[in-house]
Amino acid sequence: MLDPKHAQGADWVAPDEQLGRLWRALRDRVAPDGAVHWPAFDARLRRHLGTLRDELARLYGQRLDFEPVLVDLLAGVYAQWCERPPELKALDDTREHDPDWFQSQTMLGGVCYVDLYAGHFAGIAAQIPYFRELGLSYLHLMPVFKCPEPHSDGGYAVSSYRETHPKLGTIAELRTLAGQLREAGISLVLDFVFNHTSDEHDWAVAAKAGDPAYRDFFFIFPDRTEPDRYERTLREIFPDEHPGAFSQLEDGRWVWTTFHSYQWDLNYANPKVFAAMAGEMLAIANLGVEFLRMDAVAFIWKRLGTSCENLPEAHTLLRAYNALARIAAPALLFKSEAIVHPDDVVKYIAPAECQISYNPLQMALLWESLATRQVALLQQALERRHALPAGTAWVNYVRSHDDIGWTFADEDAIQLGIRGFDHRQFLNRFYVNRFPGSFARGVPFQDNPATGDCRISGTCASLCGLEQHDPHAVARILLLHGVALAAGGIPLIYLGDEVGTLNDPGYVNEPGKGDDSRWVHRPRRDAARYAQRHDAASDAGRIYGGLRRLIEVRRSLDCFAGNRLIAFWSKNPHVLGFMRPAARGSVLVLANFSEQPQRIEAHVLSGMPAAAEELIGGGHADLRRPLELAPYQMLWLDCRTA
Ligand code: GLC
Ligand code: GLC
Repeated sequence: MLDPKHAQGADWVAPDEQLGRLWRALRDRVAPDGAVHWPAFDARLRRHLGTLRDELARLYGQRLDFEPVLVDLLAGVYAQWCERPPELKALDDTREHDPDWFQSQTMLGGVCYVDLYAGHFAGIAAQIPYFRELGLSYLHLMPVFKCPEPHSDGGYAVSSYRETHPKLGTIAELRTLAGQLREAGISLVLDFVFNHTSDEHDWAVAAKAGDPAYRDFFFIFPDRTEPDRYERTLREIFPDEHPGAFSQLEDGRWVWTTFHSYQWDLNYANPKVFAAMAGEMLAIANLGVEFLRMDAVAFIWKRLGTSCENLPEAHTLLRAYNALARIAAPALLFKSEAIVHPDDVVKYIAPAECQISYNPLQMALLWESLATRQVALLQQALERRHALPAGTAWVNYVRSHDDIGWTFADEDAIQLGIRGFDHRQFLNRFYVNRFPGSFARGVPFQDNPATGDCRISGTCASLCGLEQHDPHAVARILLLHGVALAAGGIPLIYLGDEVGTLNDPGYVNEPGKGDDSRWVHRPRRDAARYAQRHDAASDAGRIYGGLRRLIEVRRSLDCFAGNRLIAFWSKNPHVLGFMRPAARGSVLVLANFSEQPQRIEAHVLSGMPAAAEELIGGGHADLRRPLELAPYQMLWLDCRTA
């Protein structure tokens, strides 16, 4: 793979003078001990140094020390490359040769908390046979690093990126687990919580003590003057905990805390922060992590007079981190966590930024369709907002560890005669069971009377009506998952939902959790339900069996690979439709979001073959006659021609 010219010592005729200077400074600094590791690093450095320099120059280029800072950064990156284990370097080569590997229809994600699902890392390893049974190839373990007790936002307040939470096991055990998962064909996904650290992180502790170097790692202000100016244009994220975006320290100063008062936002205007977090990122990569979930990515750059969300510099930072990954951990890919307006979500998704991204719009609109029994908004989203650049993929999910927020675009909704504000009020009432006839048992999250904003907590099963034994609950659960599985990209299951785990109201009595309703949908692994998963007479068994069938059908057909989707207007307001194109013909997906039988008229199906195999339940459909769908039924019609 390596060009012999790239062997140690060979000079590089760089595209411009500055790059040549940077490269030589680095080589002269690291080459003496670099005999073994340098050539492979150098080959990738030559490909990506230009991008890295350009991106960082946008942020820090005006500084007199720009070049030495960059050389220092690269020397650190090189040292981490030298430590990267050989099996990961082999994976780097494999992935570089097959960059679209994650587009396969065999990809299936799962997510869980280590402690709640299996106690500790070894417990997760013991679940590998089950993960294989389910068909997982991607496992997101919720935050595993050291964090304060009991208030840590579920681990999203990290006090050390180099130590794991002791209750879960050691760093060495995490590395072993990553290897075991890889052996089983499962890519490990961890969070990169890089917008903020915990106030117990060494950097924050030093900043509190007055160390000026670390004070500049955060946004700390002597009084309310600056915070007041910023807050004129900021959104409140966790208003239950503190109003606005700042928290007061004991000495009277104010620190930027977008989320909780113990989560201090990092100041990326300081290049030392970029470099320090680059080191943490590569250390996490070297544990064997294949996807980093870029937490709270919308918030990482601030500018006075703006919302301080989705600023152009956030993208610059991502591209710079991505360039570093391409140089020193090429198997590492990024997943965007931007739960924002759909116009902004899509901007993070690019081969040079985040290769994969949550699809919060599809997620929210699945629930919207279920509540209204109308598919217009979801259908419109599939048509307008599903396409992605080559080399990227959606992560389609039904719900996550976070709340469900109604992040559809008001501009889209009004075209369908739907007023965003009123519609969100309805959806919130529906899902917290304050609407007549609602089947859902959700709980409000961050209900803000000042703005009318509110989001929803609840497990998939509880929101679908299983808690109140609604006769359609199982079919609803399968319908939502079925759309996520069929729509392309990487489907992601919140582990426990596949057996219908219900809300856990007991969270209110647990230390550090009681005031955050998201814990209602983060229950412990429900062993009794898992034990019933092969019993078709139980709810758990019906859900699990149905889901397994969908997973198997999906893996068997390559038209489910990638993201390409063609919206199909069923001309029935209750029935969602889309096609997944194959080399010849396509699979037509139809999904009835109502508890009434629905009909698709024959003329709507003209242009389809005369007959199609129905892939989920088996049997043939005559497409020259009207199609009948049972309540909440989904059809996957194989319209491929031989
Ligand atoms: C992300 C996480 C969420 C957390 C927040 C702050 O949005 O998903 O759980 O509260 O970041 O880290
Ligand atoms: C807000 C943020 C999102 C975060 C969530 C946590 O919606 O935009 O990033 O995940 O809060 O609940």
